[in-house]
Amino acid sequence: MVQSGAGEHVLLTGANGFVASHILSILIERGYTVLATVRSHEKAKDIISTHPSWKNHVEFVIVADFTSDRPFDDIFQNSSKPFDYVIHTASPVTFQISDIQKEMIEPAEMGTTQILRAAQHFGGPSLKRFVLLGSAVSVLNSFEDLSTEGKPYTEKDWNPVTAEQAISQNDTVLGYNVSKIRAEAAAWKFMRESKPTFDLTVINPDIITGPMIHPIHGPKSINETNHFAIASFIDGTHKQIDGVTFPFYHFVDVRDVARSHVDALKNPAAANQRILLISGLITPQLVVNIIRQNFPSLKDRVPEGNPGQILPSGVHPTGWDTRISLDILAKGSRDGTWEYIDLKKSVIDAVNSMLSTGILR
Ligand SMILES: NC(=O)c1ccc[n+]([C@@H]2O[C@H](COP(=O)([O-])OP(=O)(O)OC[C@H]3O[C@@H](n4cnc5c(N)ncnc54)[C@H](OP(=O)(O)O)[C@@H]3O)[C@@H](O)[C@H]2O)c1
Repeated sequence: MVQSGAGEHVLLTGANGFVASHILSILIERGYTVLATVRSHEKAKDIISTHPSWKNHVEFVIVADFTSDRPFDDIFQNSSKPFDYVIHTASPVTFQISDIQKEMIEPAEMGTTQILRAAQHFGGPSLKRFVLLGSAVSVLNSFEDLSTEGKPYTEKDWNPVTAEQAISQNDTVLGYNVSKIRAEAAAWKFMRESKPTFDLTVINPDIITGPMIHPIHGPKSINETNHFAIASFIDGTHKQIDGVTFPFYHFVDVRDVARSHVDALKNPAAANQRILLISGLITPQLVVNIIRQNFPSLKDRVPEGNPGQILPSGVHPTGWDTRISLDILAKGSRDGTWEYIDLKKSVIDAVNSMLSTGILR
């Protein structure tokens, strides 16, 4: 299928993020012009200082607060050129917050509904598709019994966790899950009720790891998931592996996530679909095994654990039946096939990006 984006215009939100930076890179490589939202002029400048070659291919606009009144209307109304596609990635991904409702759930849900409404009212006839970066946490069950492997999840599943549960337990991981469920559910509701002329694709990745190409200013710039899944085993956060658990046990590399979004723009099979992105298993032990085998200079800092015991004691994660999603992904790819980057490459490339940017020494 034709993959070139020459002459086509994309609105991308949250362009300075870990995932969105890779999406922006592929959009530019394929010839799209991009209007990108960030939360401040400094963040826009940072992107261009990190990637000077992107300068003539992307323009920036500031959207500081998704909960403000109609923050996207002007963007559609004032754009020099109408948009062909929207890719909405921006959403809170930090667990150090004090108000789950206000800092996580509201911006995630309102960001999604406000940009969809603006797209419908002011997007015009050129707008063909809205791609939403969802999450596997909208699909899996936050309360799954990890002591036994359950029935594999599919594109039809929805996580039952509620805002009331997340807030009453003051659990920010649950709060994040609710924020993603609410945003995705609101998007599908909007499509059902408002029947816009564009269609919707939601991409639902599990834990995302891999190299970082977003602006980096010291260790705090490591995105949340690369930190808990990889850097925390190198920077002294974990002195041992025994007792360390992850909230989920499947991953996907950031480059596959980015590629799937750009492929989805023009893939007829992706229309009005949820696409699950799952490469394979990730566990603390698998990650430390890869780091210790491939980075001799870091070995002394990375706990050894028990290299033969891959899963934490008592953990039997439920798998994923992704056949429908794989078929859609293959139809949208350049060569008609879809191969995931494996954990070894994802971890090695992530650690190399941490070393080359000087945030790990
Ligand atoms: N990382 C994962 O494992 C994973 C897995 C599945 C889905 N996702 C989804 O992927 C997307 C990007 O995540 P990421 O890992 O790339 O995280 P990230 O690097 O933290 O990027 C998040 C982006 O969203 C913006 N943002 C956060 N809160 C916002 C708010 N209240 N108003 C406006 N913008 C806001 C951030 O802006 P600032 O930089 O200005 O804060 C940043 O541009 C999110 O939708 C996330 O839910 C991530």
